[in-house]
Amino acid sequence: MIDPRFTEVDRWMEAQLRPADPILAEVHAAASRARLPEIDVSPLLGAALGIIASAMGARRILEVGTLAGFSTIHFARAVGDGGRVVTLEYEPAHAAVARANFANAGVAGRIDLRLGKALDLLPALATEAPFDLVFLDADKENNPAYADWAARLLRPQGLMVIDNVVREGAALDSDPGNHRATNIHQLFAAIHADARFDASALQIVGTKSWDGILLATRR
Ligand code: SAH
Ligand code: DHB
Ligand code: MG
Repeated sequence: MIDPRFTEVDRWMEAQLRPADPILAEVHAAASRARLPEIDVSPLLGAALGIIASAMGARRILEVGTLAGFSTIHFARAVGDGGRVVTLEYEPAHAAVARANFANAGVAGRIDLRLGKALDLLPALATEAPFDLVFLDADKENNPAYADWAARLLRPQGLMVIDNVVREGAALDSDPGNHRATNIHQLFAAIHADARFDASALQIVGTKSWDGILLATRR
């Protein structure tokens, strides 16, 4: 099912399109030294998210799930000088690696990393709304609740992106004990029922196996 050429084609496209980036290489090296899980977005998806944010002219971005800050740095570069990225992370060890990576990347001044459980931190962001873009990439069981917060915090026509909505086709598994499947079913049901969003989803193959993103605009 997972063809090794998916990874090879990702590597080839990255070599064609993405200039060598010692700062992003160091983010991966620091994450590896700290033994963080390799669950950051792929280099091509990170760059694509940055391009989308830049094309929207996004100046204020909210991210749920920082890890080592790989995706965060793409957003921080996209918002430019004077822009702001708020990123939420509950593992102090991940946050420490991310903070060092932000400083090394020269974008620490654009990033507000908040430590805690996202559901505890999101209510305080209401006074800092609206955001142009919200990226959901933390614990998958809370995605319906995070999407509800995104609907409250996004500006009209603002973009919500949710990572990991395919998980190697988990949607097709009806076993109620498969939490990857039930999380996806609950998320799509919540978005389906939510008139505040105009939504679609894309499957992605490549260096991160077979996964995908949900894209939705705030009506
Ligand atoms: N967006 C990152 C990857 C994030 S991985 C990138 O692409 O580079 C998911 C992160 O979410 C992990 O660091 C994990 O510790 C964090 N996380 C999981 N549950 C969380 C919660 N309830 N609140 C805040 N952070 C959470
Ligand atoms: C997991 C989380 C992610 O954000 C991801 O991109 C891949 C896997 C996980 O928790 O397994
Ligand atoms: Mg993810």
